Amino acid sequence: MVKVAVLGYGTVGSGIVEVLKTNQELIEKRVGEKIDVKYVLDLREFPGDPYEDLIVHDVDVIMNDPEVSIVCEAMGGIGAAYQFTKMALEKGKNVCTPNKAMVAEYGPKLMKLARDNGCNYLFEASCGGGIPIIRPLQTALLQEKIVAIKGILNGTTNYILTRMEKEGADFDAVLKDAQALGYAEANPEADVEGHDACRKIAILSSLAYGNTVNYKDVYTEGITKITVEDFAYAKKLGATIKLLGMSQEVDGNYYAMVSPFMLKNDSPLYSVNDVMNAILVTGNTLGDTMYYGAGAGKLPTASAVVADVIECAMKQGQLIPCTWNEGDLSLGQMENDKRHFFVRAKSELSQIESVFGKVEAVDAGIDGEMGFVTEVMSEKEFASKAEALGSVVSRIRFEN
Ligand code: HSE
Repeated sequence: MVKVAVLGYGTVGSGIVEVLKTNQELIEKRVGEKIDVKYVLDLREFPGDPYEDLIVHDVDVIMNDPEVSIVCEAMGGIGAAYQFTKMALEKGKNVCTPNKAMVAEYGPKLMKLARDNGCNYLFEASCGGGIPIIRPLQTALLQEKIVAIKGILNGTTNYILTRMEKEGADFDAVLKDAQALGYAEANPEADVEGHDACRKIAILSSLAYGNTVNYKDVYTEGITKITVEDFAYAKKLGATIKLLGMSQEVDGNYYAMVSPFMLKNDSPLYSVNDVMNAILVTGNTLGDTMYYGAGAGKLPTASAVVADVIECAMKQGQLIPCTWNEGDLSLGQMENDKRHFFVRAKSELSQIESVFGKVEAVDAGIDGEMGFVTEVMSEKEFASKAEALGSVVSRIRFEN
């Protein structure tokens, strides 16, 4: 019998208990051993909850119980959760978590601490919610040199953007719905300003390229400036707007960013709607593979944590290898990154073309302005042309 403790009985913590209980028989059959929850740590009481008897308030009960070999950290944040994670690893207990803030901040340190204590620190649910993405990178893609990752990595923002596009819905109202559905972070600024996607692309890039991509080095732009008018232009262009996290290797240099992008309808990411996430991974010999699924929410996220629990249970006493090493990966300057840009400006086409050269003009019926898509140019070149034009209302990076 494998005994598990869950730290935090919030959305994901209660989901972990639910997944383990719902599929207990099936899991036992497949793993060859019963996996059961012995404790749930939370400061609150849960009268009437089917698992209220499992609630404890003192973390030492868990840490000092040698029967508990796996701890699921579902508290979130990097305060008490960090202290408890270290305590568990120092006691040789495996830790499984969806906590991307923790993994992005302390991943290599915690993985080393785990190795030094003969246990594992696993975080499948930290990226893409329920999508198996870290395990494929650690198993099925080991033969590949990963050259690019591009994905919709945040369920809340994808949900908001989808409803803005389909219903012309108001940003704040949709955000409230996303919170009610359990998609959003405790502080939803982390979602809408792109910080959550930033941590996820930093984690995936560290795993893919082998050294640590510091999330603080990743250029990050959120969706708060995207409007329903932008979607009117996108529609005219046969495109939509998505928040993408991306990284790639170009001639030995690595680049990473999080930003809203206009995507044409032939992009494999175009139809990824609502809370769904998708991650496109490009290998040097394999080419593209894409991973799709629920990017947030109680049970999908919990399911991915339970996948880690099962791996620990099946590999008791073993160190599970990981491609993320302790060295740092420095990122190249993004000013040389090249792409098309969609622009809204209060100028005539002739003025625009005198500065930008040939553009694809688009009229969405909005008074006093026009839209256009530039030719491919560097970020630096775009910035200087936009300044020269002097009438740019907004711009969105554009993928052809
Ligand atoms: N707030 C996150 C999201 C939760 O919306 O994607 C899953 O990491």
